[in-house]
Amino acid sequence: MKVFTSIVDTQNYLKSHYPKSIGFVPTMGALHEGHIALVKKSIAENELTVCSIFVNPTQFNNPDDLKKYPRTLDEDCKMLQEAGCDVVFAPSAEEMYPSLPILKIDFGHLEHIMEGKFRPGHFNGVGIVVAKLFNIVKPDKAYFGQKDIQQVAVINRLITDLSFDLKMVVCDTIREKDGLAMSSRNRRLSPEARVSAPKIFQSMLLGKKLLLEGNSAFVVKNKVLDFYRASPEFELEYYEIADFETLESIDELNENRKTAIIVAAHLGGVRLIDNYVF
Ligand code: PAJ
Repeated sequence: MKVFTSIVDTQNYLKSHYPKSIGFVPTMGALHEGHIALVKKSIAENELTVCSIFVNPTQFNNPDDLKKYPRTLDEDCKMLQEAGCDVVFAPSAEEMYPSLPILKIDFGHLEHIMEGKFRPGHFNGVGIVVAKLFNIVKPDKAYFGQKDIQQVAVINRLITDLSFDLKMVVCDTIREKDGLAMSSRNRRLSPEARVSAPKIFQSMLLGKKLLLEGNSAFVVKNKVLDFYRASPEFELEYYEIADFETLESIDELNENRKTAIIVAAHLGGVRLIDNYVF
């Protein structure tokens, strides 16, 4: 496995391996089985797999969150090597941003709901870094997790609106046995918080059950608020019931469309997000 920190070295290496089909998995490191599932899918579908590890400062709206984001490059490289990854691109912030971009990307209505609303500027940072990474790696396929459902919608628009010549592959959320979605942030949970954390998954299963029983989204949300009131260790940011594709709120289930329940909550100083599609 090759590990590069320089953009030019990465590009030269990938050019010398042209015309192999390239699969790309962008990450911020602190890798877990969710990331590795994306890498394995890419390995199965492409001749060469590139994984980037870059804690992108421009997508953090909260400086404390950026400071506390786990950085475990050596362990990450070990996991990637074992998985069979070919190339790791792990640049410094100076390498990626010799000067801060003045370009701004606005993702329209996606900026005003859920992650867009609660993390102003986040998707601008995601959009710019992913566009830069696509230009550096020039992948045929890029792999993203369903775990970040709104990020999937944003990257879809990025690919369409800027005519990136690649296919996006979306992979299922990998969960711990108790239902907690794997996340780099989970390692910051205290032992007590870790015990509570699967309640997020339970709150989504509760919502699904109530919706399938014929309750309106309004009724379901109220019952879910009661659920979180009984678990005061959580500070719920949002609990949305939305159309799976447009991510617009819905009032009740539509038999012909998939529904997504999407949650963000703070638990012991850690912000967790998750979603469940059915
Ligand atoms: P990061 O949070 O490291 O996630 C990298 C990729 O792994 C994303 O596509 C994310 O959706 C996916 N992922 C995370 N947890 C997962 C899980 N439990 N199951 C399946 N996939 C999972 O998302 C980012 O980094 C950044 O925003 C990035 C796209 C790299 C841009 O900086």
